[in-house]
Amino acid sequence: MKAVALKAYLPINNPESLLDVELDTPSPLGRDLLIAVSAVSVNPVDTKVRAPKDKIEPAYRVLGWDAVGRVISTGPDATLFKVGDEVFYAGSIARPGSNSEFQLVDERIVGRKPTSLSNAQTAALPLTAITAWEGLFDRLQIAQNKIKETEAPKTLLIIGGAGGVGSIAIQLAKQLTNVNVIATASRSESIDWCKSLGADLVIDHRGSMIEQLRAQHIDYVDYIFCLNNTDQHWQAMAELIKPQGHICSIVELSGAVDLNALKNKSVSFTWELMFTRSLFETDDMIEQHHLLNRIADLVDTGAIKTTLNKTLSPINADNLRTAHAQIESGSTVGKLVLEGWSS
Ligand SMILES: NC(=O)c1ccc[n+]([C@@H]2O[C@H](COP(=O)([O-])OP(=O)(O)OC[C@H]3O[C@@H](n4cnc5c(N)ncnc54)[C@H](OP(=O)(O)O)[C@@H]3O)[C@@H](O)[C@H]2O)c1
Repeated sequence: MKAVALKAYLPINNPESLLDVELDTPSPLGRDLLIAVSAVSVNPVDTKVRAPKDKIEPAYRVLGWDAVGRVISTGPDATLFKVGDEVFYAGSIARPGSNSEFQLVDERIVGRKPTSLSNAQTAALPLTAITAWEGLFDRLQIAQNKIKETEAPKTLLIIGGAGGVGSIAIQLAKQLTNVNVIATASRSESIDWCKSLGADLVIDHRGSMIEQLRAQHIDYVDYIFCLNNTDQHWQAMAELIKPQGHICSIVELSGAVDLNALKNKSVSFTWELMFTRSLFETDDMIEQHHLLNRIADLVDTGAIKTTLNKTLSPINADNLRTAHAQIESGSTVGKLVLEGWSS
């Protein structure tokens, strides 16, 4: 099968950083599905895993953790899908990725493809939707009570609103909860994108978020979902979070921060890693199957829309190097997808 892979970890402008290769097609065991991959998206995790380091892989390593495709065969213990089903998934960081014509994935982290979207529109969604869903509902525990509004609306600050995760988080928060959504963006393109997805207010993460919110008479926010540069935003988050409020970050720290800054306010801080369930095969791993099916329903009923912004074709090393370079720029708006294999 065709695949894009690496052996050495090189800067993305090096043509050897990602290579077109031929690999054996794997066979499904246990609860695995063998998927014929039709489109993939690129996430910052791809560039972080590929980041230059002094290491050579003994065998080709396939990256890519976002895909849409069709079930070709199933393992003996698989029960959730059958041959021919169209599905979408992010997969496991501990296994070969989706930048290959065929891929094995555990059915418990796979959802049915939304029927109303194209393959490229679908490939934009799984990894970021899982992250946003788990962050908002499992970690921050924001109530899904759009229908029964019983108390004054709370406020959610999403730092990094126009990126892949922010683009779906804004929509989920607006469609499924009563919170007022404040998103951050720093350029006219990303500001307009956040507004088009439903953000109630957009502020600039490159200026003082505290001053901008206080100018709007917003002293504190109930929830903060940090989707970019946790180190940079730590002090502002500690200042802006309401007493007894909740902060969730999805971005690793590069150094130590002062956790004591949250103590007087009894603020909770939580991490979200969307690979946790598959990495540790947690008892509730199948929640990602349910969650992705719920996303498909929300898309098919028109509640949320794809976050696709740009498509490259076909899926090959050249286009993946272009996509990695775009992600590394830190200025991606929505999602970047690669579709189809050359014949
Ligand atoms: N823990 C997890 O499970 C998980 C899952 C997914 C992603 N992540 C991580 O979360 C981060 C975001 O992922 P993503 O897919 O949303 O990335 P992305 O699409 O590449 O994000 C691009 C956006 O980041 C914004 N941005 C750039 N610098 C910023 C800053 N200093 N503060 C706030 N926003 C800034 C940009 O907005 P402007 O152009 O307007 O400045 C741009 O729209 C990455 O570090 C990724 O590895 C973690």
